[in-house]
Amino acid sequence: MDIKNLLKTLTLDEKIGQLMQLPPFFFIEDIDVEIFGQVKALNLNKKKIFEAGSVLGNNNAEQMIEIQKKYLSQSRHKIPLMFMADVVHGFKTTFPVPLAIAASWQTSLATKAAQIQAKESRTSGIQVTFSPMVDISRDPRWGRIVESFGEDPYLASKFSEATVKGYQGDDVSSDDHVASCVKHFAAYGASEAGRDYNTVDVSHYALHNIYLPSYKAAVDAGVKLVMTSFNTIDAIPATVNKYLLKDILKEQWKFNGVVISDYDSLHQIVAHGVAKNDKEAAFRGIEAGLDIEMASTCYTNNLKALINENKVTEKLVDEAVLNVLKLKKDLGLFEDPFKGANIERQSKIIRCEQHLDVAQQLAEESIVLLKNDEQVLPLNKTLNYVILGPYAETKKTNGAWAGHGDNSLNTTLSDALITKNMHLAFIKSSKKPIYTDEEMKKIKAADQIILALGEDEYESGEAHSKVDIQLPRQQEEFVDFSKSLNKKTIVLLYHGRPFVLTNMMKADAILDVFYLGSRAHQAISNILCGDVNPSGKLPVSYPRHGGLIPLYYNQFSTGRPHEKGVYSEYTSFYLDEENEALFPFGFGLSYARFMYSNLKISKQEINVKDDFIITVDVYNDSDMDGYDIVQCYVQDLVSYYARPTKELIRFEKVWIKAHTKVTIKFKIFAFDLGYYDPKGLRLLEPGEFKFMVGSSSETFDSVSIKLLEDTHHAY
Ligand code: GLC
Repeated sequence: MDIKNLLKTLTLDEKIGQLMQLPPFFFIEDIDVEIFGQVKALNLNKKKIFEAGSVLGNNNAEQMIEIQKKYLSQSRHKIPLMFMADVVHGFKTTFPVPLAIAASWQTSLATKAAQIQAKESRTSGIQVTFSPMVDISRDPRWGRIVESFGEDPYLASKFSEATVKGYQGDDVSSDDHVASCVKHFAAYGASEAGRDYNTVDVSHYALHNIYLPSYKAAVDAGVKLVMTSFNTIDAIPATVNKYLLKDILKEQWKFNGVVISDYDSLHQIVAHGVAKNDKEAAFRGIEAGLDIEMASTCYTNNLKALINENKVTEKLVDEAVLNVLKLKKDLGLFEDPFKGANIERQSKIIRCEQHLDVAQQLAEESIVLLKNDEQVLPLNKTLNYVILGPYAETKKTNGAWAGHGDNSLNTTLSDALITKNMHLAFIKSSKKPIYTDEEMKKIKAADQIILALGEDEYESGEAHSKVDIQLPRQQEEFVDFSKSLNKKTIVLLYHGRPFVLTNMMKADAILDVFYLGSRAHQAISNILCGDVNPSGKLPVSYPRHGGLIPLYYNQFSTGRPHEKGVYSEYTSFYLDEENEALFPFGFGLSYARFMYSNLKISKQEINVKDDFIITVDVYNDSDMDGYDIVQCYVQDLVSYYARPTKELIRFEKVWIKAHTKVTIKFKIFAFDLGYYDPKGLRLLEPGEFKFMVGSSSETFDSVSIKLLEDTHHAY
């Protein structure tokens, strides 16, 4: 299809229509009938609706085929609709929430999960997914931290790349792939005070070094779309922010795909107070380089007038339309408007055992063992256990943005544990540790207590921020109750956002189980019973107190650094709490014990074109095989701009058999030691760099290297 010639055949209305995205009901209902007033509210009519370019959120192949047929039968230009949806961590097979996927540090499984999501989506009539969400999140009050890959730019970048490649493969026209839309550009995770949709005010230094790398990783991986965020950057909403959309995305990063707004976010710039009305919003959007307007009608209702009044050139509209037509061409829609939608295949592959098995494997690798005093885990098959707490019988393990996932199809923890022949007494879920005499008898008869604690699925996710990140509804009382009976206490934490766990550290074991998706309880029971060795590590820091937020591991030294455990009045610390995280970034225990030794670096000095190798030996000093996640952090000791005291620069998740040793090698290039100045220029400065290696961001040995050449290299 020659899209430039096709463009020439379109009327101005038809061009503008390609830039509008509407929910599916506009195409299903009889448009002449008012639909919840939205047709009127959006000032739409049948002609405009049947000139739209794409659909937001269809449900299955049948619906897509029905809409596409109806649309094409009424379309003069016969340009197929494109179908997009939020397949964030599963279409019907639900994988762990993205924060848990990041906790696996297993990017290969993230790719596999994305490949499965793409297959299930494409056969269901979806060609584009609004995923991955790669917003760096340092604030657990923000409900959408659950959708993110956590606080670290390097880890988030690796998962961003892995996920885009899984969705898109080598050819987005194939029946097994979809186009990926990275979101939310940019720095949405820095919403002030963790309140969703709130102002973002970060320095350009922080923007380029912390918040932008994970989006750039998606662009470098060939992502086809970028979705703008609801927030402002430099007091300009991202959806109409030229610095973001033109200077960075198109000029610096050479992105040539589609830029799509978030839901109604173009219209919302009126609420931001940066446009008087939808007409001004349309002007600012097309000028800034926004292509598709999702779920609002500023473009459809105003661009034609702006062009007729010579306020906007038609060339700008043509550029946006060409981006949309190119994407439709890449998706194979001109050859086959129904490409990939397949009712029969849909019935075979959706939520099939093979897909669920991968979801279980990823769930098992995402679980983080935070505490295990006296090796109370794995569970002992000769002991009697009782499961208590508000989530003791939950099946709701899919979490936020689970799309078409169905919690009712999931298994409960007790059903999963019973298949393991565990001796389990069962007490109905309760919000407080208050029991009848009969129940107390059962509880006292148990040797150990398993507490299923946490928050409900809807308590995190979009528009669900919280000021208090203690366990909700005083659930710590369950730990006090269990310890008052002198019982070993094992806590399972179901959650989206990280919690402050300080008040429940009396528990003997804490297993972080996030929301692990369709096979959550099969995975959890395999870990509890020791059939699988826990291997997850935290992608975010868990604070001791909410007052420490924002808390992240890669902090600057400050001019008065505080040394842990050393009292020195005029240093950077709190009178009433320790600075350090309760559980730091990169932390997670195993049933095995891994010993690090023999840390070496291959060179003492390098030039800017050089590379070098860091090696370390890791010995599994236990009887159980298992993964460890070997982490390498770097500190640039002296630089023009202050640099963090440590930054993740490499990691490897490695399987180590019982009583064996492996040698891990990290190859690092001088270029990797650079960073960005506030203009986004990459700097590589001479001087000493320290490398710290270990199994979390807080336990390591170190080696150093000197970068020669007294020239500041800007790339
Ligand atoms: C929502 C979310 C975004 C999602 C979009 C479409 O408001 O911010 O993540 O992709 O709308 O559902």
